[in-house]
Amino acid sequence: MPLQSPGTDGTEHTAAAPAPCRVVVCRDCCCGTPKVTGVDHERQLARLTARVPVRVSDCLGVCEHANVIVVQPGAAARAAGARPVWLGLVNDPDATEDVAAWVQAGGPGVAPCPDILGLYRFTPPRRE
Ligand code: FES
Repeated sequence: MPLQSPGTDGTEHTAAAPAPCRVVVCRDCCCGTPKVTGVDHERQLARLTARVPVRVSDCLGVCEHANVIVVQPGAAARAAGARPVWLGLVNDPDATEDVAAWVQAGGPGVAPCPDILGLYRFTPPRRE
């Protein structure tokens, strides 16, 4: 049985809870490859997937920051003004666990970014 039904405006609406905080994990030409040495990429993705909602993305265009993870605020936090937080050089198992813990705590707009993750934070170039 489908979980979606047409809205009065003809668009599809999902009858699910508002989108939770989640992470976008880049995996493409650099992130998640042997170009980034000293990282168990499969384990990193498995640890995140086991703890929080994850979407794997193609190259996000900031390979110099590989491995890149973007923490997306939940729908309510986004509506209140929270924005995605880009984290680069997430190449340490402890950082991966810190990302998961922050997302589980609510992520951007809900829980303060842990100080340690501030070291990984960067501003992506503007996209056109
Ligand atoms: S492969 Fe991740 S930013 Fe390019």
